[in-house]
Amino acid sequence: MTIHTPPMGWNTWNTFAKDINEDLILRSADVLVETGLAAAEYKYVVVDDCWSLRERDKNGHLVADPEKFPHGMKYLADELHRRGLKFGMYSCSGALTCAEYPGSLNREYLDARTFARWGVDLLKYDYCFRPQSPDGETLFRRMGLALANSGRDILFSGCSWGADDTPKWIGTTGAGMWRSTPDIFDSFDSIKDLIKRQYGILPYGGVGCFNDMDMLVVGMHGKGNVGLKGCTDDEYRLHFAAWCLLASPLMIGCDVRNMDETTYAILTNKPLLAISQDTRGNRPYIRRFFDCDDLPIVVRILGNGDVALGLFNMTEGNANFWVPADDLGVPVFSGKKLVGEEVYTGKTIESRNGVLLDKVPPHACAVYRLRVVNAK
Ligand code: GLA
Repeated sequence: MTIHTPPMGWNTWNTFAKDINEDLILRSADVLVETGLAAAEYKYVVVDDCWSLRERDKNGHLVADPEKFPHGMKYLADELHRRGLKFGMYSCSGALTCAEYPGSLNREYLDARTFARWGVDLLKYDYCFRPQSPDGETLFRRMGLALANSGRDILFSGCSWGADDTPKWIGTTGAGMWRSTPDIFDSFDSIKDLIKRQYGILPYGGVGCFNDMDMLVVGMHGKGNVGLKGCTDDEYRLHFAAWCLLASPLMIGCDVRNMDETTYAILTNKPLLAISQDTRGNRPYIRRFFDCDDLPIVVRILGNGDVALGLFNMTEGNANFWVPADDLGVPVFSGKKLVGEEVYTGKTIESRNGVLLDKVPPHACAVYRLRVVNAK
């Protein structure tokens, strides 16, 4: 199956790490459905690391920890499917997972079959504890092929953190998304770092194999496994907008059972989700305002001819952005201009004499969906 839009869902790792169990996952799944997050397309429920026993059974099969998952993984899959959701699981290309549970090295075909039997729809595949040989790309191709022969359509979510020139080979593995970054943490420094890491690799993402900037920390507020100090709401808005504009998968990482209203509003922002999920699948591009890495301007031409424009201020002072409409594809004397609304505030903008002007406070963003209209 070709993946046409960035996959969306919820993943256990950011908040819960090893403290996962069937109740938590099904309760969170209920919340996805009850709150409308599932209707907004957050469909994958991904059980990350720490779900299995430390040893395989005598036939070499992975075994779900019976204390955490008393009814087993097939039951969990059935329950998620019954709610209209999809089931994601986690394994690793090395001998161990990153949290030192059994990995899939040399058991790729067996494990792919097991996941297929359980009803898994997505496999996140990590990069810890690998041998030097075969190398990572060979191991990822192996699992990609094993999944393709598992008898079930399973989205391969490669998680090699961009290491070992991942972008050069990930498209050969069958992956539908690829982690382009080290792990995210719930701090503005981490968000900023992950955004800046995209500058050189955008051409490697897009329809077929999306460039994954890691799970969202929106709404974590310093709680959980990757909690750190947390972010302000403006910083979370910037984070979410960047992931949407840059066509990253959107995997919620907060505790959805205890989400506040602002978190919910960010995660369900309609104009941003429309940009994220734009089916034309044009790639975004980035210009750095005045060559400053901390002032990226992200642009994406949308399927209906609109232009998404993100002005990101990752500096400590105000930023007075100006963007020539010419740079966005609208020359001054074309008889056209750009008009639009900001996605979070509804504030309007319009190009005057061929220039768009906006002032953005520190650690904040302004994202416009612009229409090309007649100038008069
Ligand atoms: C790696 C991955 C994370 C998470 C952990 C689990 O660090 O990058 O996303 O899956 O492993 O141990």
